[in-house]
Amino acid sequence: MADGDPVVEAVFDAVAATAPAIRDALPGRRVADGAENPSGETVLAGDLYADELLADALTAIDGVGAYVSEERPEATDAGEGYSVAIDPLDGSSNLRSNNAMGTVVGVYDAPLPATGRDLVAAGYTLYGPITTMIVADASGVREEVVERDPDADGGVSRSVVAEDLTLPDDPTVYGFGGRVPDWTDPFRAYAREVESELKLRYGGSMVGDVNQVVTYGGVFAYPALTDAPEGKLRLSFEGNPIAYVIERMGGASSDGSGSILDVEPTGLHDRVPVYVGNEALIERLEDAVADD
Ligand code: AHG
Ligand code: MN
Ligand code: MN
Repeated sequence: MADGDPVVEAVFDAVAATAPAIRDALPGRRVADGAENPSGETVLAGDLYADELLADALTAIDGVGAYVSEERPEATDAGEGYSVAIDPLDGSSNLRSNNAMGTVVGVYDAPLPATGRDLVAAGYTLYGPITTMIVADASGVREEVVERDPDADGGVSRSVVAEDLTLPDDPTVYGFGGRVPDWTDPFRAYAREVESELKLRYGGSMVGDVNQVVTYGGVFAYPALTDAPEGKLRLSFEGNPIAYVIERMGGASSDGSGSILDVEPTGLHDRVPVYVGNEALIERLEDAVADD
């Protein structure tokens, strides 16, 4: 079970405890709120509701010093302790099409923006047919099933269903974001090779697509694009937490030249190209795009 950091455990308790309320709120919050987030993207009512719920729960934890969200321009001060970075609703464009989405969490032992080397834990909830939570910390990576339980603290139970998770040795799936015409030539050549070897699993939410790689082995990428060399995903809220999970499982991450965890941020909402999966597939990716 947990490596015993009580604050990390309290963070994942809070994320799990808000999951049923976030899921229950989604049916009525599929519409755009009309606002834009710091990344310049349309915000759905579901994004804002999840953000409020998570901010209240996480800032109340003794040992959490800052709440930092994809939906907020600046950090929300909460005293002393870890900086908790949250993507409240990842894959929110899947809300209208009723497909997978989730919440991404990164626990940094440093004020943000920070590199992924400052992460002490990371993970995500996945709102699929069931609600699961992947937790990566100093003790390893585990999968939990999150369910309503009126008799449990916070009204939610966390049941560990697999621990010491590692990436399957034989990769099976791939998922590449962005539009093919916007891929760079070196990435397109790499994609054509991978397509001839693995099965396509791309559903439009990073947590859903990464969970395919976590389960079956393979590679997920939201690559650098010709018109967006930094790609789409945010370093603090998506790239670093997912890179931490995959590297803790014995896989690899890259921004195209090296581990995402080593990328030096300039701002809280920096974007970064994201490539994660089995080590051999990421090495081939770096060779392919090296001179790009
Ligand atoms: P978010 O909903 O938090 O903005 O994240 C959406 C991201 C990520 O979940 C996914 O991998 C990617 O956007 C999908 O982008 P495309 O719609 O361009 O495929
Ligand atoms: Mn996201
Ligand atoms: Mn989001």
